[in-house]
Amino acid sequence: MIALGADHGGVYLKDAVKKYLEENGIAYKDYGTEGTESVDYAPFAYKVAKAVTSGEAEKGILCCGTGIGISIAANKVPGIRAAVCTNAFCAEMTRRHNDANILCMGGRVIDEKTAVELSKIFLETPFDGGRHARRIGQIAAIERGEEL
Ligand code: RB5
Repeated sequence: MIALGADHGGVYLKDAVKKYLEENGIAYKDYGTEGTESVDYAPFAYKVAKAVTSGEAEKGILCCGTGIGISIAANKVPGIRAAVCTNAFCAEMTRRHNDANILCMGGRVIDEKTAVELSKIFLETPFDGGRHARRIGQIAAIERGEEL
């Protein structure tokens, strides 16, 4: 299952991604928001991040105006590696090298077509492992308060 969330600045992107998932038979859960009324992004980031770290969701996709605020909030949840992506290269590399588990995008930065393209790449690209696994382990150590 893919967990989706957005604030008002990213709701169009989130709904475009939702349509793509529906059309392709990919299970998802939409944590909101609905509509364009102004809302705070952190609660949506938190719900999607918890869905991912609890194992309920395999990955998450979060959208706000820039993708930045919602990624900062999601990355406060231990175990989350949320990456803001604006192009296909970043969406591929954040899976291959960072094992990102949440893709973040900005509704005031990219259009719906690009958001769907980046989501498809993000969902289909595997983690390369190897030396990158060591680096992910170092990020986890920082989360545990360890010295590097
Ligand atoms: C909301 O206006 C906007 O600040 C939010 O969507 C996001 O861009 C924050 O990073």
